[in-house]
Amino acid sequence: FGEQALRGKKVVVSAGPTYEDIDPVRFIGNRSSGRMGFAVAEAAVEAGAQVTLVAGPVSLATPAGIAKRVDVRSAAQMHAAVSEAVQGADIYIGSAAVGDYRPNTVAAHKLKKHDGADLTLQLAENPDILASLSAKQLHPFLVGFAAETQNVETYARDKLQRKGLDMIAANQVGEGLGFETADNAITLYWADGSQELPRADKAALARQLIECIASRYKAVRG
Ligand code: C5P
Repeated sequence: FGEQALRGKKVVVSAGPTYEDIDPVRFIGNRSSGRMGFAVAEAAVEAGAQVTLVAGPVSLATPAGIAKRVDVRSAAQMHAAVSEAVQGADIYIGSAAVGDYRPNTVAAHKLKKHDGADLTLQLAENPDILASLSAKQLHPFLVGFAAETQNVETYARDKLQRKGLDMIAANQVGEGLGFETADNAITLYWADGSQELPRADKAALARQLIECIASRYKAVRG
């Protein structure tokens, strides 16, 4: 692969968790650090792409050379930011850990305890950002992530199909891999192929991932 495998391409990367507010001081979130997505965005810059990074709540510096960073908090905000950013984009890499549900209502004031009584939170399902993009006639080459604790290939291939993706990057979570860790290991799947990217630090893995995405992109979209 050449060093500039994505020269001139417009790439959008989402990264990090989303926070779904319950009240002014509480939220539902997840353990995504955003590090894998930020590393992917940096690797895409190195490959010559013009990169927009849509980031959930993370404490990470913007990698050098990123054309635009949009900070968001909730899944709804991420959905809106990504939908705008992908207009005219060649590739969307959805590495964000988007919350599946949000509280039906956000309380205006801090919720109080009620004498030991249970509290029930009603949750509404968030829209699937990747699936909403693939449903449109004109959409970028779509890459998703699947963090699984078991049956990695089965679940990843199912997501590839169901969300209408071009590729999916699957990783086993747990045992020092995945969320909140320095290292990761990924298997990439597409309709008629797959490729293993063995355990490495997230920067090295991100570079290999970008090379694979660039070569599949060229095969499918020229
Ligand atoms: O279904 P699951 O959340 O495991 O799928 C993960 C992939 O789907 C990731 O690429 C994530 O960014 C994307 N996703 C999304 N919108 C959602 C939930 C997940 O784009 N609401």
